[in-house]
Amino acid sequence: MTQTHAAPSKTDNATDRVYNFSAGPGVLPESVLEQIQADCWNIDGSGIGVLEHSHRGKVVDRIFAEAEADCRKVGNIGDDYAVLFLTGGATTQCYQVPANLLPDGARADYLQTGKWAEDSVENARLYGDINLAFDGQASVYDHLPMSDAEINHSDDAVYLQYTSNNTIYGTEFSFVPKPKNPDAFVVCDASSNIYSKPFDVSPFGVVYAGAQKNLGPAGTTVVIIRKDLLERKPRTLPEMLDYSVHAAKGSRYNTPPVFPIYVVGLVFKWIMSEGGLGVMAERNERKAKHIYDVLDASSFFKPHARKDCRSMMNVTFRCPTPELDAKFLEEAGARGMKTLKGHRSTGGMRASIYNAFPEAGCKALADFMKDFESKNG
Ligand SMILES: Cc1ncc(COP(=O)(O)O)c(C=O)c1O
Repeated sequence: MTQTHAAPSKTDNATDRVYNFSAGPGVLPESVLEQIQADCWNIDGSGIGVLEHSHRGKVVDRIFAEAEADCRKVGNIGDDYAVLFLTGGATTQCYQVPANLLPDGARADYLQTGKWAEDSVENARLYGDINLAFDGQASVYDHLPMSDAEINHSDDAVYLQYTSNNTIYGTEFSFVPKPKNPDAFVVCDASSNIYSKPFDVSPFGVVYAGAQKNLGPAGTTVVIIRKDLLERKPRTLPEMLDYSVHAAKGSRYNTPPVFPIYVVGLVFKWIMSEGGLGVMAERNERKAKHIYDVLDASSFFKPHARKDCRSMMNVTFRCPTPELDAKFLEEAGARGMKTLKGHRSTGGMRASIYNAFPEAGCKALADFMKDFESKNG
């Protein structure tokens, strides 16, 4: 029987959505959510919802082709790179990178700037000789190296891996570290700041990002990899782990997570419709400034990240006591500002303000912080 129902009507965004400061999965653009509502019912006039389509059919062919093409357009990524949509989260990249790219006993430099970097180091040690070229653990990862002079590069590293934005601590690199070995390439975990500002892929061998912060929902990881690296193959790998297999199969070696890849594709289109990465950067800087201005002027709130390396995506701070943190979170929640609780390793608050997070929410938080300080300071 032919389905004749209309797509479910959209809810009233103005009244039933709160400011969602979640670190990930994070907020999505409202226009994307509306499109999803319609496409879950019937996509491309096919009479079948996006969740129900075969990954080998024409609709999914279109979705994948456009997601890849739009990823390239947004990030200005040329044909010398493959764009893959993989599974297993960014966490899988902690071992997929060294398994594919680090020969037995060879050295790689890692910058340990947070928990996710720790995981990468631990997994890479299963394959090669890892040089901790920077380690911020002693100060609970409150800062980053500010230049290559603060990085203990090794002469013979095959690659250097770092995390461009440290989601938990609220630190963000303002430069791309340059390996000492001229043949080495750079690997970047960009999970929490990919496409938040203009992007130059050329220094990188591999860039990866779990989608659920700036690009879409959880379920896929975007991996941008220089094509010559696909041929390195330092060891025999299970096919599922082999980047070159996924590249040859167009990210459809096995049944892929069509839905998150479809949403990521819509988010790329949204970024372009908003004006691209230059506009994202301007907006993100303005948004973060509302909150950082309050922190800079305050003798009450204590930021976690050092000022010279703070993040445009995750703003971390504390009240003078854990009791006041709890009160802050409760009162913020009552005013429609949710999921502000910081990670257990830093305590306090974390405002994650990814691309799709509205500037009005940053202003509302800044105003509330001032009000809270005046009443509790
Ligand atoms: C910078 C960074 N890398 C890696 C991860 C792990 O991602 P996943 O949970 O997708 O494996 C996260 C998750 O928050 C992250 O913020």
